[in-house]
Amino acid sequence: MLTLGIVTISDRASTGVYEDQSGPAIREVYTRWLATPWTEAYRLVPDEQPAIEAALRELADALRCPLIVTTGGTGPAPRDVTPEATVAVCDRLLPGFSEQMRAESVKTVPTAILSRQVVGTRGASLIINLPGKPKAIEECLRAVWAAVPYCVELIGGPTLSMTDAAPRHHRPS
Ligand code: MTE
Repeated sequence: MLTLGIVTISDRASTGVYEDQSGPAIREVYTRWLATPWTEAYRLVPDEQPAIEAALRELADALRCPLIVTTGGTGPAPRDVTPEATVAVCDRLLPGFSEQMRAESVKTVPTAILSRQVVGTRGASLIINLPGKPKAIEECLRAVWAAVPYCVELIGGPTLSMTDAAPRHHRPS
């Protein structure tokens, strides 16, 4: 069974100050867009680089998630360290994804330029950082989804089939 990663990075959600809404928003997008049966590995961690790195390593290396989407901790505040943790665990970065997500997001919110979100691969796992706002989840994933299934295949992951509700994806012939 395919396992997909959902990692929420938030001091406040992880200590129960508020309920995580962004992790469930990722789950909701997976549910609507993926036809391939999947199960999830969900982790809720504070804004601590070692904890974020450990969650990403576990999901990539032990659980072999072909896709790991994180939310939160991408901004310029001192506690925001998700990009540093992601860069530390990735073998390679895919800057086109983050450029595209920011380019689409600034069309709806000028502060989208503040997100330092990165995307990269660790082995056969594609790791995508998203901002912490629930509204950002679908906006950002929609901006790059066209290339996600093919990217997952190129790095050695499975073929992901999509529902009709998913944004159109592209596989070069
Ligand atoms: N991107 C989208 N699509 N929608 C948003 O509301 N918020 C921005 C930005 N990117 C936002 C967005 C804001 S206000 C910040 S501070 C940064 O993401 C970083 O957010 P994070 O620290 O929660 O990851």
